[in-house]
Amino acid sequence: MNVSYELFLIIPPGLEDLARKEVEEKCPVSPITVIKGGLELNADINWIITAHTILKIPTRILMRITSFKVRDFPKLYQKFTQFKWNEHLSHPEPLWHISCTKSRLNHTGKIEETIQSALKEAMRKQPLARDWEKKNYSPQNFYVRIADDVLTLSLDLTGEPLYKRAFQKIKGEAPLRENFAAAFAYEILGDLKNKIILIDPMCGSGTLLSEAMTFYVPMHLRKFSFEEAPFFKGKLVRTEKSTKSFPIQESLGFDLNGELLEKVRQELKGKLEVSLINQDSLTTNLNRENTIILCNPPYGERIQIKGKRGTFLKEAWEKFLKSDQPFRFGWVLPSDMDDLFQIPDGYSLKTKRHLKNGGLPVTFWIWERRN
Ligand SMILES: C[S@@+](CC[C@H](N)C(=O)[O-])C[C@H]1O[C@@H](n2cnc3c(N)ncnc32)[C@H](O)[C@@H]1O
Repeated sequence: MNVSYELFLIIPPGLEDLARKEVEEKCPVSPITVIKGGLELNADINWIITAHTILKIPTRILMRITSFKVRDFPKLYQKFTQFKWNEHLSHPEPLWHISCTKSRLNHTGKIEETIQSALKEAMRKQPLARDWEKKNYSPQNFYVRIADDVLTLSLDLTGEPLYKRAFQKIKGEAPLRENFAAAFAYEILGDLKNKIILIDPMCGSGTLLSEAMTFYVPMHLRKFSFEEAPFFKGKLVRTEKSTKSFPIQESLGFDLNGELLEKVRQELKGKLEVSLINQDSLTTNLNRENTIILCNPPYGERIQIKGKRGTFLKEAWEKFLKSDQPFRFGWVLPSDMDDLFQIPDGYSLKTKRHLKNGGLPVTFWIWERRN
């Protein structure tokens, strides 16, 4: 039997319930504990491999390595010199991320110095294999959290965040983060039985469309940090063929930025079937049978909009709902505008969730047509 590890999945706050649903659907384990900003669970190395290739909502996965009470520097030094580094360490100079709350040890600089000299001492007794030099391994990221005098040491298994999928590199000026886009697509499309046409009327680089279309597609287009760790033992990361998808019959993206669309079209050619059309969505009729409109409109910060932000968004909202009348409409907006978009005629509110996008409080709304 494989060793079971204590894992922590970092999830953007506000998306924890969707992330849990995703794990339960794609790579179930039990129990899963949901806490603010993450999921705690135990699983083995095969699960770690699958999760990294198939989960789209988490930001990264940490492995909890050890936990102990510590109230002074000599004890900290002793614990870190005695630790069996060879099971986890792949590079002699890890990066340390230290945080302390309500603890006797609270000087992060001095904690780091102590840990580094303890690690040096430990390396003298149990030298690291030279693989890291030959194979050009990257330094690992270790997280040291001291809370109420209890230290928890965790290792980042992911490296670059999971939302950097290396699938689509061309991005517009204010792209939506891939894991947000995946979560929004999951929420609006996850329970559908019948085929729909998915439209993003302000698609920019098309993140919402591409995440919707690849939600169930396992990807290993970049390296994950755990692949260099000693406990991984040079296994292979295999990706299974995906057997499921959302019932999307057609994917359409519209944007005013024709140059960006052309670059994205070139990049996605042969990889993804999406039609990207250079048109103004506020003057184009998007009314088709069974459409779902999903979008992340400009807020007037990084991308300029005509007139006042509220007027532009209200105009867009009325046009999409009154004239295009999709079966469902979902969009993400700054939360300070919540009062503007309450009760559209003929629609019911399906879900409303609060989260932060690049530090800005935003609301993800989904309305559904009543008939
Ligand atoms: C926040 S960005 C969308 C980013 C996109 N979700 C992504 O991940 O790349 C908003 C986009 O709306 C487009 N836009 C603004 N007004 C528009 C309109 N009337 N019709 C079509 N696109 C519009 C902008 O050109 C911009 O690309």
